Amino acid sequence: MAENIIYCYSATGNCLDMAKNIAKGLGDTEIVMMRSLPQKTDATQAKRVGFVFSCNGGGLPMGVEDSMRAVRIAPDAYVFGIVQYAGYMGTGLWQLNRIHPLSYWAGASHQSGCIWLMPHTLMFPPLSAKAAQKRSEKLAAGFAADIKEGKLTGKQPPKNALNAFESRAFVKIIPMKAKKYRVNESCIGCGTCARVCPRQNIHIVGGIPIFGQDCIGCLSCIQFCPRAALDVGGVTRKRERYTNPNVTAAELTSESIYVE
Ligand SMILES: Cc1cc2nc3c(=O)[nH]c(=O)nc-3n(C[C@H](O)[C@H](O)[C@H](O)COP(=O)(O)O)c2cc1C
Repeated sequence: MAENIIYCYSATGNCLDMAKNIAKGLGDTEIVMMRSLPQKTDATQAKRVGFVFSCNGGGLPMGVEDSMRAVRIAPDAYVFGIVQYAGYMGTGLWQLNRIHPLSYWAGASHQSGCIWLMPHTLMFPPLSAKAAQKRSEKLAAGFAADIKEGKLTGKQPPKNALNAFESRAFVKIIPMKAKKYRVNESCIGCGTCARVCPRQNIHIVGGIPIFGQDCIGCLSCIQFCPRAALDVGGVTRKRERYTNPNVTAAELTSESIYVE
């Protein structure tokens, strides 16, 4: 059993990269993915338990609250939460804190994964993908140092009423967006979209992806497609795709990653 466990939700890889960098700083860390319900929920033997996830629609990505609730943590463990976002951190840390009271929490902005809403470069503060990545790595090293020395944030994460409202509306928007997923003529039927889907909601039939109803709106399929062959309506057609440069599709879909 590793000394530290980090539960991670990630769609483009930004949060997995953050989790890996924090894990490098801590050493002896198992990163357990929670893109769907995690396989390992018993964290009672870990000294430190972390949650690294993104802000989606002002709150937690769909299904992540259930994963957080499933995790069991020892009463004396040091618990931390890190949220990544494009413009604002939303209510995710506040939601997590109600489930597992947090010793330490922080947020960091990075390139946006929500390309049906805005280009990936729109983040606050505005930075290029390269500069944003450099900043994220620096922040991760700082978070890891804080966590290692047992720093306490000493205040509750904020609950923004507007973000809480947005988060409730978001779960209604996702199925509507899911109906707009399209395959364009660049598709080569490689199946990457089906492999990165955390819900097994995509099946390759006759060489093209067919989308089911169980979509959480993560957009991993759109972002990881090597041919930019998937779109959400017409708006994403001309928008550049983005995935974190240090995370592969195989890592993203693994159950867990151990960092020495
Ligand atoms: C469907 C979706 C919704 C998002 N909603 C928000 C949001 O409400 N506020 C925000 O600042 N960023 C939002 N983002 C941006 C992500 O939080 C940001 O890109 C983050 O770095 C993604 O990390 P990940 O790809 O590891 O999950 C959203 C991204 C996606 C895909």
